[in-house]
Amino acid sequence: MIINISISTKLALSDWIIILLTIQLFTFYQYKYKNEAYRIKKKHFKQLPRAEQIFWTTLTKNDYKEFDKNERLKLILKHKQNIKNHLLNWSKILYDSFRHKLVTLKERDRTINIPKQYKYEEKKNYKPINNKRQITILEATTVFDQPKFCINEEQVIFHPACPFNNCIWKCSRESTTITQSDASIFHYSDINPERIQTFLEKRSINEIYILWIDEAHKDVHHLDEYKFNWTLSFRQDSEVSIATYGLIIKLEKNKNRQYLNDKTMIPYLSDKQSKFFLNRLHNYSSIPIDKELEFRILINYRFREKQALWFVSNCDPKKRLEYYDHLKKYFTIDARGLCIAESGTNEKEDSLTKQCGKSEQCEKDQMHLSMFYLAFESQSCTDYITEKFWRALHHGMIPIVMGPTKQQYLDLNIPSTAFIHVDDYSSPEQLANRLHAISQNYFEYRKYFLWQVQYAIFYETEDLEPLRMCELCIKLNLNTKHRYYENLNDWHNQEC
Ligand SMILES: *[C@@H]1O[C@H](CO)[C@@H](O)[C@H](O)[C@H]1NC(C)=O
Ligand SMILES: *[C@@H]1O[C@H](CO)[C@@H](O)[C@H](O)[C@H]1NC(C)=O
Ligand SMILES: *[C@@H]1O[C@H](CO)[C@@H](O)[C@H](O)[C@H]1NC(C)=O
Repeated sequence: MIINISISTKLALSDWIIILLTIQLFTFYQYKYKNEAYRIKKKHFKQLPRAEQIFWTTLTKNDYKEFDKNERLKLILKHKQNIKNHLLNWSKILYDSFRHKLVTLKERDRTINIPKQYKYEEKKNYKPINNKRQITILEATTVFDQPKFCINEEQVIFHPACPFNNCIWKCSRESTTITQSDASIFHYSDINPERIQTFLEKRSINEIYILWIDEAHKDVHHLDEYKFNWTLSFRQDSEVSIATYGLIIKLEKNKNRQYLNDKTMIPYLSDKQSKFFLNRLHNYSSIPIDKELEFRILINYRFREKQALWFVSNCDPKKRLEYYDHLKKYFTIDARGLCIAESGTNEKEDSLTKQCGKSEQCEKDQMHLSMFYLAFESQSCTDYITEKFWRALHHGMIPIVMGPTKQQYLDLNIPSTAFIHVDDYSSPEQLANRLHAISQNYFEYRKYFLWQVQYAIFYETEDLEPLRMCELCIKLNLNTKHRYYENLNDWHNQEC
């Protein structure tokens, strides 16, 4: 009896030792990574001149005392880019976007070997539409089960500055009233085989059937047979693709622009601090500096948390989750969403912000309080750059991107200094190194925002859709070709 008990305690003891060792090992690794992140962070800060180190340390301490989270948020919002004072010449923006797309496609044709078998083209037989006559575009299906423009008479469909104003939107709710149109739009997930049959019976060779597909990497084999003439998608080689998820525009020179000078007082700095800051700034850059922009960058640098943010809900794509798992060892990432294990979230954050859930306001607030955003696309398909990228830019974060190649971002006219592409770094650790270098050094951080002196972005649907529909109207007016997709599925999924 006694022997029995002693054996069982012995066993329990050895079990305990193993458990303790495992815990120790685990905390050791956690400690090691935390330490490593801290070491990299310190290393970059130490590279600053001594006087600057003191300046930033003192400032951070004061800011922390003086401004709570709500006040910081308020200041960040107050200084957000505001393009209301700029006169936007939308005809020029449309013309530039249209031309830019043509140039990009030409360049791609020259440099990339894109297989030609996806499209069939024939130049003859199509009579360009005389631009005095009306062009009708039929909304042949719903878009994700909702009517698109066939819901509200007042809705602006084509941008008011569109160079052509002869396009008319038609709705077809009853299958009995199908009449011919110049173009018919079918949304890929709303196509009903029986209903499309009634269209096909009346299809004429001059009618342009357009497939609308803004999602990437979908199986659309079953749509091959309809031989769509055009597509409306994010791919730049779609007939209609401008402003699918976002648009960057060049701003006209603002004549009322104010520049920083020696006497400028920097907001929320003492006289002495202002002087020091201006001195460093002028030492750093000799060109005149836009006052509003400099204030904005400094406010953001001071009041945003030096961390990356990520909202993620689609857990299927594993590549980005794996990358995140590595990166978070070296740089603080506040990740939220279904795919993130609770233990993986930032422990120090309060319970209030943790419950962001589906609250848009809460998400927005977090976006205004973080320096970086992981704009990792779920698919690595050509040109698949979605709203998460544009939203990050809009909210003043530096997007860290994964998905399409860097060149494809540049092809959309996005300045290379507006984002960070993971492909530029040999490992997540190297990337973390760079993120620390940026977050620890104002003049590094600043480089990622200087583009805002010349550009602004749009990412909301109501701004973008009228531009896309204008491109559609331009294309219909200028079309001289018969064409259709020989192999829609292969085209859509190439380089995915
Ligand atoms: C807008 O730009 C076009 C050139 O693309 C120019 O012809 C037109 O005059 C401009 N409009 C205004 C109001 O500046
Ligand atoms: C400006 O730069 C020069 C040399 O690059 C340096 O000697 C000087 O201390 C700098 N001034 C300030 C205020 O940082
Ligand atoms: C549209 O595609 C069909 C093939 O499905 C083709 O016969 C027709 O010529 C095309 N029309 C135009 C205007 O491209």
